[in-house]
Amino acid sequence: MRISGRASGSDVLVIGGGIIGLVTAWRAAQRGLGVTVADPAPGRGAAQVAAGMLAAVTELHYGEQMLLGLNLASAARYPAFVAELEEASGRDTGFRACGTLAVALDSDDRAHLRELHALQERSGLESTWLSGRECRRLEPMLAPGVRGGLRVDGDHQVDPRRLASALLTACERAGVAFRRTTAERLTVAGGRATGALLGDGTKFAADQVVLAAGSLSGRLAGLPPELVPPVRPVKGQVLRLTVPPAYAPFLSRTVRAVVRGGHLYLVPRENGELVIGATSEELGWDTTVTAGGVYELLRDAHELVPGITELPLTETLAGLRPASPDNAPLLGPTALPGLLLATGHHRNGVLLTPVTGDAMADALTTGELPEAARPFDPGRFGPAAPAPVLQEQPV
Ligand code: GLY
Repeated sequence: MRISGRASGSDVLVIGGGIIGLVTAWRAAQRGLGVTVADPAPGRGAAQVAAGMLAAVTELHYGEQMLLGLNLASAARYPAFVAELEEASGRDTGFRACGTLAVALDSDDRAHLRELHALQERSGLESTWLSGRECRRLEPMLAPGVRGGLRVDGDHQVDPRRLASALLTACERAGVAFRRTTAERLTVAGGRATGALLGDGTKFAADQVVLAAGSLSGRLAGLPPELVPPVRPVKGQVLRLTVPPAYAPFLSRTVRAVVRGGHLYLVPRENGELVIGATSEELGWDTTVTAGGVYELLRDAHELVPGITELPLTETLAGLRPASPDNAPLLGPTALPGLLLATGHHRNGVLLTPVTGDAMADALTTGELPEAARPFDPGRFGPAAPAPVLQEQPV
């Protein structure tokens, strides 16, 4: 299907080289399509901040039953996905089948967790209620005050930075081309998307364009107003600590908690990194790390696991989740022929990477999403509301 005789073009142009753009490019290239990714810094983006929990069960929310099905489908694909990706790239992804413990610190947290447990059971999910003593037997570093918790052995983790590097290498090895520049404007002719004007001045032609620019997806110029994806940035501040070998194993699995209504998680990696996250802030494009954000994370994490104050704090970072109106992604063809979306993954971009790659490759090769991804059709919100405008940002 590769188109010949074009100075600058390919079958597919993917706008955005985060993990969603990269997995789309990799899977499409594996199906024989000529693919180019436009991004000034492919492999960067929200994955550099994300903790990498694959928390389909412990991050379940009321009203997200439709998303749960997609999350579970993607979680089930993870072991085979990372095995294939590691083979294709020669790189480790840090996937760890360690399970998760979600704990309660006071009676309100405990009531909240009981509700979550009931919802999980109604949804047919595997989750076991433990007493505080049982929680501490599993994770001795937990505070003595822990009132109880949920053991979820199926919620694992991956290292999003290593995942992004592996996807980048797999793309390169599969023949994906990279244009290390922004996409400035979608080009449209004869009632279909025809490519994009790139930041280096090139007019890049493509049979199909995939917009996978994360929280910036609504900012691409040239989109028909009714097709502007309703995606907004939701800020998350995250800390990275290091567990010195003498302290290991500090935690043996992901530990989550609701502390005074806020969600907190500690994700321990095999290499000694301990990720603590995350704030959730509606502040537009702001990615400032604030004293207040760091304070709240450390205060709550200290209440949960007092020993963290002994650990070196190695990094503080903020990133932007690409949130949609129903917290679920926008996947597949739009009403403009030749334009597809893969964006709006909000809290679940890392978890949904495998299923997104497969769904988008299907859409690019057959024109249709697979059954499981059809509820995430970008047209489900109707004509677009105006994208949030705070300041100009190139895509
Ligand atoms: N999924 C974790 C977060 O969005 O903070």
